[in-house]
Amino acid sequence: MDQGPTPFAAPTDRRLALEDSFGRRFEYLRLSLTDRCNFRCSYCLPQGYRKDASLPPELSRHELRRAVAGFARLGLWKLRLTGGEPTVRSDFEAIARDLSGVEGIRRIAMTTNGYRLTERAETWREAGVHAVNVSIDTLDRENFARVTGHDRLPQIVEGVDAALDAGFDAVKVNSVLMRSLEPEGWDKLLGFIAARPVSWRFIELMRTNDNAGFHRLQATAGDAIAEKLRQGGWTPLDRATGSGPAVEYAHPGFAGRIGLIAPYSPGFCDSCNRLRLSSRGKLHLCLFGEHGVDLRDLLQEDRQQDDLVARILAALPAKPRAHRLHEGSSGSTPHLASIGG
Ligand code: 5AD
Ligand code: SF4
Repeated sequence: MDQGPTPFAAPTDRRLALEDSFGRRFEYLRLSLTDRCNFRCSYCLPQGYRKDASLPPELSRHELRRAVAGFARLGLWKLRLTGGEPTVRSDFEAIARDLSGVEGIRRIAMTTNGYRLTERAETWREAGVHAVNVSIDTLDRENFARVTGHDRLPQIVEGVDAALDAGFDAVKVNSVLMRSLEPEGWDKLLGFIAARPVSWRFIELMRTNDNAGFHRLQATAGDAIAEKLRQGGWTPLDRATGSGPAVEYAHPGFAGRIGLIAPYSPGFCDSCNRLRLSSRGKLHLCLFGEHGVDLRDLLQEDRQQDDLVARILAALPAKPRAHRLHEGSSGSTPHLASIGG
Protein backbone atom coordinates (compact mmCIF):
# COMPACT_ATOMS: atom_id res chain seq x y z
CA MET A 1 0.00 0.00 0.00
CA ASP A 2 1.23 3.51 -0.69
CA GLN A 3 2.35 5.19 2.48
CA GLY A 4 2.54 8.71 1.08
CA PRO A 5 5.59 10.77 0.33
CA THR A 6 8.78 10.04 2.17
CA PRO A 7 9.41 12.39 5.11
CA PHE A 8 13.12 12.68 4.37
CA ALA A 9 14.79 15.73 2.88
CA ALA A 10 17.85 15.90 0.63
CA PRO A 11 21.11 15.83 2.60
CA THR A 12 22.69 18.90 4.05
CA ASP A 13 25.38 16.87 5.80
CA ARG A 14 28.17 16.36 3.27
CA ARG A 15 29.55 13.40 5.20
CA LEU A 16 26.43 11.63 4.06
CA ALA A 17 27.48 11.70 0.44
CA LEU A 18 27.80 8.88 -2.02
CA GLU A 19 31.48 8.59 -2.66
CA ASP A 20 33.68 5.56 -3.14
CA SER A 21 37.24 4.82 -2.10
CA PHE A 22 38.56 6.31 -5.36
CA GLY A 23 36.92 9.68 -4.73
CA ARG A 24 34.20 9.18 -7.35
CA ARG A 25 30.91 10.82 -6.43
CA PHE A 26 27.70 9.12 -7.36
CA GLU A 27 24.97 11.43 -8.43
CA TYR A 28 23.33 9.20 -10.98
CA LEU A 29 21.26 6.04 -10.53
CA ARG A 30 20.23 3.77 -13.35
CA LEU A 31 17.07 2.06 -12.39
CA SER A 32 16.08 -1.05 -14.27
CA LEU A 33 12.29 -1.32 -14.08
CA THR A 34 12.12 -4.75 -15.68
CA ASP A 35 14.35 -7.21 -17.47
CA ARG A 36 11.54 -8.02 -19.90
CA CYS A 37 11.83 -6.80 -23.45
CA ASN A 38 9.75 -7.27 -26.58
CA PHE A 39 12.78 -6.97 -28.91
CA ARG A 40 15.38 -9.62 -29.64
CA CYS A 41 18.60 -7.72 -30.27
CA SER A 42 21.31 -10.07 -31.48
CA TYR A 43 23.81 -9.00 -28.82
CA CYS A 44 21.35 -8.91 -25.94
CA LEU A 45 18.34 -11.26 -26.08
CA PRO A 46 18.74 -13.09 -29.41
CA GLN A 47 16.13 -15.69 -28.44
CA GLY A 48 13.83 -13.08 -26.97
CA TYR A 49 13.05 -12.62 -23.29
CA ARG A 50 12.64 -15.77 -21.29
CA LYS A 51 11.02 -15.71 -17.91
CA ASP A 52 13.17 -17.08 -15.11
CA ALA A 53 10.73 -18.37 -12.52
CA SER A 54 13.47 -18.63 -9.90
CA LEU A 55 13.83 -14.84 -9.75
CA PRO A 56 11.94 -12.73 -7.22
CA PRO A 57 9.30 -10.35 -8.62
CA GLU A 58 10.08 -6.94 -10.06
CA LEU A 59 10.21 -4.08 -7.59
CA SER A 60 6.78 -2.53 -7.17
CA ARG A 61 6.09 1.11 -7.81
CA HIS A 62 6.28 1.82 -4.07
CA GLU A 63 9.47 -0.15 -3.54
CA LEU A 64 11.00 1.86 -6.37
CA ARG A 65 9.94 5.13 -4.81
CA ARG A 66 11.46 4.19 -1.46
CA ALA A 67 14.69 3.08 -3.10
CA VAL A 68 15.02 6.37 -4.96
CA ALA A 69 14.17 8.36 -1.82
CA GLY A 70 17.03 6.60 -0.02
CA PHE A 71 19.54 7.42 -2.75
CA ALA A 72 18.26 10.99 -3.01
CA ARG A 73 18.92 11.46 0.68
CA LEU A 74 22.54 10.78 -0.14
CA GLY A 75 22.69 13.53 -2.72
CA LEU A 76 21.84 11.54 -5.79
CA TRP A 77 19.73 13.68 -8.11
CA LYS A 78 19.65 12.11 -11.53
CA LEU A 79 17.80 8.98 -12.58
CA ARG A 80 17.64 6.90 -15.71
CA LEU A 81 14.70 4.54 -16.13
CA THR A 82 15.84 1.61 -18.15
CA GLY A 83 15.41 -2.13 -18.55
CA GLY A 84 14.96 -4.43 -20.47
CA GLU A 85 12.34 -2.26 -22.07
CA PRO A 86 11.01 -0.12 -19.20
CA THR A 87 7.82 0.81 -21.02
CA VAL A 88 6.52 -2.77 -21.14
CA ARG A 89 5.48 -2.10 -17.54
CA SER A 90 1.88 -1.01 -17.47
CA ASP A 91 2.63 1.25 -14.49
CA PHE A 92 5.53 3.00 -16.26
CA GLU A 93 3.88 6.42 -16.28
CA ALA A 94 2.83 6.14 -12.65
CA ILE A 95 6.39 5.20 -11.71
CA ALA A 96 7.84 8.16 -13.60
CA ARG A 97 5.36 10.47 -11.94
CA ASP A 98 6.12 9.07 -8.46
CA LEU A 99 9.86 9.35 -8.92
CA SER A 100 9.77 12.86 -10.27
CA GLY A 101 8.05 13.83 -7.04
CA VAL A 102 10.80 12.42 -4.80
CA GLU A 103 12.56 15.23 -2.97
CA GLY A 104 16.01 15.88 -4.40
CA ILE A 105 15.42 14.25 -7.79
CA ARG A 106 16.02 16.90 -10.40
CA ARG A 107 16.34 14.99 -13.61
CA ILE A 108 14.82 11.83 -15.06
CA ALA A 109 15.96 10.27 -18.30
CA MET A 110 14.74 7.06 -19.87
CA THR A 111 16.08 4.51 -22.32
CA THR A 112 13.68 2.79 -24.68
CA ASN A 113 13.68 0.73 -27.83
CA GLY A 114 11.07 3.24 -28.97
CA TYR A 115 8.24 0.90 -29.87
CA ARG A 116 5.64 3.09 -28.15
CA LEU A 117 7.36 6.44 -28.51
CA THR A 118 5.11 7.87 -31.20
CA GLU A 119 1.92 7.59 -29.18
CA ARG A 120 3.47 8.05 -25.73
CA ALA A 121 6.17 10.72 -26.01
CA GLU A 122 3.95 13.49 -24.74
CA THR A 123 2.54 11.46 -21.87
CA TRP A 124 6.02 10.51 -20.69
CA ARG A 125 7.18 14.11 -20.87
CA GLU A 126 4.14 15.12 -18.84
CA ALA A 127 4.89 12.36 -16.33
CA GLY A 128 8.18 14.12 -15.55
CA VAL A 129 10.70 12.50 -17.90
CA HIS A 130 13.17 15.11 -19.16
CA ALA A 131 15.29 13.18 -21.62
CA VAL A 132 14.98 10.08 -23.75
CA ASN A 133 17.48 7.70 -25.33
CA VAL A 134 16.24 5.56 -28.19
CA SER A 135 18.11 2.50 -29.47
CA ILE A 136 18.70 2.45 -33.24
CA ASP A 137 21.65 0.39 -34.37
CA THR A 138 21.16 0.97 -38.07
CA LEU A 139 19.10 3.17 -40.40
CA ASP A 140 18.80 0.37 -42.93
CA ARG A 141 15.34 -1.12 -42.57
CA GLU A 142 16.30 -4.71 -43.38
CA ASN A 143 19.32 -4.70 -41.12
CA PHE A 144 17.26 -3.15 -38.35
CA ALA A 145 14.77 -6.00 -38.66
CA ARG A 146 17.60 -8.53 -38.63
CA VAL A 147 19.32 -7.04 -35.56
CA THR A 148 16.20 -6.46 -33.43
CA GLY A 149 13.86 -9.15 -34.72
CA HIS A 150 11.31 -6.43 -35.58
CA ASP A 151 10.69 -4.66 -38.86
CA ARG A 152 9.87 -1.40 -37.14
CA LEU A 153 12.49 1.12 -38.21
CA PRO A 154 10.04 3.62 -39.75
CA GLN A 155 7.92 3.55 -36.61
CA ILE A 156 10.95 4.11 -34.35
CA VAL A 157 12.19 7.03 -36.47
CA GLU A 158 8.72 8.52 -36.26
CA GLY A 159 9.02 8.07 -32.50
CA VAL A 160 12.25 10.07 -32.43
CA ASP A 161 10.44 12.91 -34.19
CA ALA A 162 7.54 12.64 -31.75
CA ALA A 163 10.06 12.90 -28.89
CA LEU A 164 11.58 16.03 -30.43
CA ASP A 165 8.10 17.51 -30.81
CA ALA A 166 7.14 16.62 -27.24
CA GLY A 167 9.81 18.95 -25.89
CA PHE A 168 12.24 16.61 -24.13
CA ASP A 169 15.35 18.59 -23.35
CA ALA A 170 17.56 15.89 -24.83
CA VAL A 171 16.83 13.19 -27.38
CA LYS A 172 19.67 10.76 -27.97
CA VAL A 173 20.10 7.66 -30.05
CA ASN A 174 22.15 4.68 -28.87
CA SER A 175 23.69 2.78 -31.71
CA VAL A 176 25.73 -0.33 -31.01
CA LEU A 177 28.73 -0.75 -33.29
CA MET A 178 28.83 -4.05 -35.13
CA ARG A 179 31.24 -5.21 -37.76
CA SER A 180 28.46 -6.47 -40.02
CA LEU A 181 26.98 -2.98 -40.17
CA GLU A 182 30.26 -1.20 -40.75
CA PRO A 183 30.23 -0.33 -44.43
CA GLU A 184 26.67 0.91 -44.42
CA GLY A 185 24.89 4.04 -43.72
CA TRP A 186 27.23 6.98 -43.08
CA ASP A 187 25.35 9.19 -45.54
CA LYS A 188 22.03 8.03 -44.14
CA LEU A 189 23.23 8.94 -40.69
CA LEU A 190 24.34 12.41 -41.78
CA GLY A 191 20.95 12.88 -43.42
CA PHE A 192 19.23 11.78 -40.21
CA ILE A 193 21.01 14.31 -38.00
CA ALA A 194 21.18 17.16 -40.53
CA ALA A 195 18.01 18.79 -39.27
CA ARG A 196 17.24 16.76 -36.15
CA PRO A 197 18.85 18.07 -32.94
CA VAL A 198 19.57 14.58 -31.64
CA SER A 199 22.78 13.18 -30.31
CA TRP A 200 23.63 9.96 -32.15
CA ARG A 201 25.97 7.92 -29.96
CA PHE A 202 27.86 4.92 -31.20
CA ILE A 203 28.56 2.42 -28.44
CA GLU A 204 31.25 -0.21 -28.68
CA LEU A 205 29.74 -3.66 -28.34
CA MET A 206 30.38 -4.98 -24.85
CA ARG A 207 30.96 -8.58 -24.07
CA THR A 208 28.53 -10.16 -21.63
CA ASN A 209 28.30 -13.72 -20.38
CA ASP A 210 25.71 -14.65 -23.00
CA ASN A 211 27.13 -12.97 -26.09
CA ALA A 212 30.78 -14.08 -26.12
CA GLY A 213 30.58 -15.73 -29.57
CA PHE A 214 28.68 -12.83 -31.11
CA HIS A 215 31.12 -10.39 -29.54
CA ARG A 216 34.11 -12.23 -31.00
CA LEU A 217 32.62 -11.95 -34.50
CA GLN A 218 31.10 -8.48 -34.31
CA ALA A 219 33.07 -6.29 -31.91
CA THR A 220 34.79 -3.37 -33.54
CA ALA A 221 36.53 -0.35 -32.05
CA GLY A 222 35.17 3.15 -32.48
CA ASP A 223 38.53 4.66 -33.56
CA ALA A 224 37.63 4.59 -37.25
CA ILE A 225 34.54 6.68 -36.54
CA ALA A 226 36.52 9.23 -34.55
CA GLU A 227 38.93 9.49 -37.47
CA LYS A 228 36.10 9.88 -39.98
CA LEU A 229 34.58 12.64 -37.87
CA ARG A 230 37.81 14.58 -37.60
CA GLN A 231 38.35 14.31 -41.33
CA GLY A 232 34.80 15.48 -41.98
CA GLY A 233 35.30 18.67 -39.98
CA TRP A 234 33.56 17.56 -36.79
CA THR A 235 34.90 19.11 -33.59
CA PRO A 236 35.09 17.16 -30.34
CA LEU A 237 33.24 18.99 -27.58
CA ASP A 238 34.71 19.55 -24.20
CA ARG A 239 33.80 16.49 -22.17
CA ALA A 240 32.03 18.57 -19.55
CA THR A 241 29.63 19.95 -22.15
CA GLY A 242 28.94 16.52 -23.59
CA SER A 243 27.27 14.00 -21.36
CA GLY A 244 28.39 11.07 -19.28
CA PRO A 245 30.81 8.70 -20.90
CA ALA A 246 30.31 9.89 -24.48
CA VAL A 247 32.79 11.99 -26.39
CA GLU A 248 30.58 14.16 -28.59
CA TYR A 249 31.36 15.89 -31.85
CA ALA A 250 29.58 18.84 -33.44
CA HIS A 251 29.56 20.34 -36.91
CA PRO A 252 28.14 23.73 -37.93
CA GLY A 253 26.28 22.16 -40.86
CA PHE A 254 24.30 19.72 -38.69
CA ALA A 255 21.64 20.17 -36.03
CA GLY A 256 22.58 16.85 -34.45
CA ARG A 257 25.76 15.60 -32.83
CA ILE A 258 27.65 12.37 -33.10
CA GLY A 259 29.13 10.75 -30.01
CA LEU A 260 31.27 7.79 -29.23
CA ILE A 261 31.07 5.63 -26.13
CA ALA A 262 34.14 3.45 -25.88
CA PRO A 263 34.01 1.31 -22.76
CA TYR A 264 37.18 -0.49 -23.79
CA SER A 265 39.24 2.68 -23.92
CA PRO A 266 41.72 3.31 -21.09
CA GLY A 267 40.41 5.42 -18.24
CA PHE A 268 36.76 4.86 -19.21
CA CYS A 269 35.84 3.95 -15.62
CA ASP A 270 37.72 6.82 -13.94
CA SER A 271 34.82 9.19 -14.28
CA CYS A 272 32.10 6.63 -13.58
CA ASN A 273 29.41 8.47 -11.66
CA ARG A 274 26.68 5.89 -11.74
CA LEU A 275 25.12 3.19 -9.66
CA ARG A 276 22.60 0.64 -10.82
CA LEU A 277 19.56 -0.90 -9.23
CA SER A 278 18.24 -4.05 -10.84
CA SER A 279 14.55 -4.63 -11.31
CA ARG A 280 14.80 -7.29 -8.58
CA GLY A 281 16.13 -4.80 -6.05
CA LYS A 282 19.87 -5.38 -6.13
CA LEU A 283 22.35 -2.53 -6.04
CA HIS A 284 25.07 -3.11 -8.62
CA LEU A 285 28.21 -1.07 -8.24
CA CYS A 286 29.44 -1.87 -11.72
CA LEU A 287 27.70 -3.08 -14.86
CA PHE A 288 30.17 -5.92 -14.93
CA GLY A 289 30.43 -6.62 -11.21
CA GLU A 290 30.02 -10.00 -9.62
CA HIS A 291 26.94 -9.67 -7.47
CA GLY A 292 24.52 -7.08 -6.28
CA VAL A 293 23.60 -5.98 -2.77
CA ASP A 294 19.98 -6.80 -2.09
CA LEU A 295 17.97 -3.79 -0.90
CA ARG A 296 14.44 -5.14 -1.17
CA ASP A 297 13.90 -6.02 2.49
CA LEU A 298 14.54 -2.35 3.32
CA LEU A 299 12.05 -1.05 0.77
CA GLN A 300 8.93 -2.30 2.50
CA GLU A 301 8.08 0.70 4.67
CA ASP A 302 8.99 4.37 4.74
CA ARG A 303 10.33 4.10 8.25
CA GLN A 304 13.16 1.85 7.07
CA GLN A 305 14.90 4.70 5.25
CA ASP A 306 17.71 5.12 7.80
CA ASP A 307 18.62 1.45 7.50
CA LEU A 308 18.44 1.64 3.73
CA VAL A 309 20.82 4.61 3.65
CA ALA A 310 23.20 2.78 5.97
CA ARG A 311 23.22 -0.29 3.74
CA ILE A 312 23.89 1.75 0.62
CA LEU A 313 26.76 3.57 2.33
CA ALA A 314 28.24 0.31 3.54
CA ALA A 315 28.15 -1.16 0.03
CA LEU A 316 30.01 1.61 -1.76
CA PRO A 317 33.59 0.96 -0.76
CA ALA A 318 33.34 -2.29 -2.70
CA LYS A 319 32.89 -0.50 -6.03
CA PRO A 320 35.81 -1.62 -8.16
CA ARG A 321 38.17 0.91 -9.70
CA ALA A 322 37.45 -0.41 -13.18
CA HIS A 323 35.69 -3.26 -14.96
CA ARG A 324 37.76 -6.22 -16.07
CA LEU A 325 36.35 -6.62 -19.58
CA HIS A 326 39.88 -6.45 -20.99
CA GLU A 327 40.76 -9.58 -19.08
CA GLY A 328 37.74 -11.31 -20.56
CA SER A 329 35.69 -11.02 -17.38
CA SER A 330 32.10 -9.84 -17.73
CA GLY A 331 31.35 -10.43 -14.05
CA SER A 332 27.97 -12.05 -13.55
CA THR A 333 26.12 -10.05 -16.23
CA PRO A 334 24.37 -12.44 -18.65
CA HIS A 335 23.14 -9.59 -20.90
CA LEU A 336 22.42 -5.91 -20.45
CA ALA A 337 18.67 -6.46 -20.16
CA SER A 338 19.37 -8.18 -16.84
CA ILE A 339 20.62 -5.17 -14.90
CA GLY A 340 19.89 -2.25 -17.15
CA GLY A 341 21.93 -1.10 -20.12
N1 5AD B 1 27.06 -3.76 -25.78
C1 5AD B 1 26.80 -2.45 -26.01
N2 5AD B 1 25.58 -1.90 -25.90
C2 5AD B 1 24.57 -2.71 -25.53
N3 5AD B 1 23.28 -2.47 -25.33
C3 5AD B 1 22.67 -3.61 -24.95
N4 5AD B 1 23.57 -4.61 -24.90
C4 5AD B 1 24.76 -4.08 -25.27
C5 5AD B 1 26.07 -4.60 -25.39
N5 5AD B 1 26.35 -5.88 -25.15
C6 5AD B 1 22.68 -1.15 -25.55
C7 5AD B 1 21.36 -1.20 -26.25
C8 5AD B 1 20.67 0.02 -25.73
C9 5AD B 1 21.41 0.39 -24.48
C10 5AD B 1 20.54 0.41 -23.31
O1 5AD B 1 22.43 -0.57 -24.31
O2 5AD B 1 21.45 -1.14 -27.61
O3 5AD B 1 20.74 1.07 -26.63
FE1 SF4 C 1 15.62 -5.16 -25.66
FE2 SF4 C 1 17.46 -3.24 -25.39
FE3 SF4 C 1 18.15 -5.81 -25.15
FE4 SF4 C 1 17.44 -4.84 -27.54
S1 SF4 C 1 19.23 -4.22 -26.31
S2 SF4 C 1 16.76 -6.81 -26.63
S3 SF4 C 1 15.87 -3.39 -27.01
S4 SF4 C 1 16.82 -4.71 -23.78
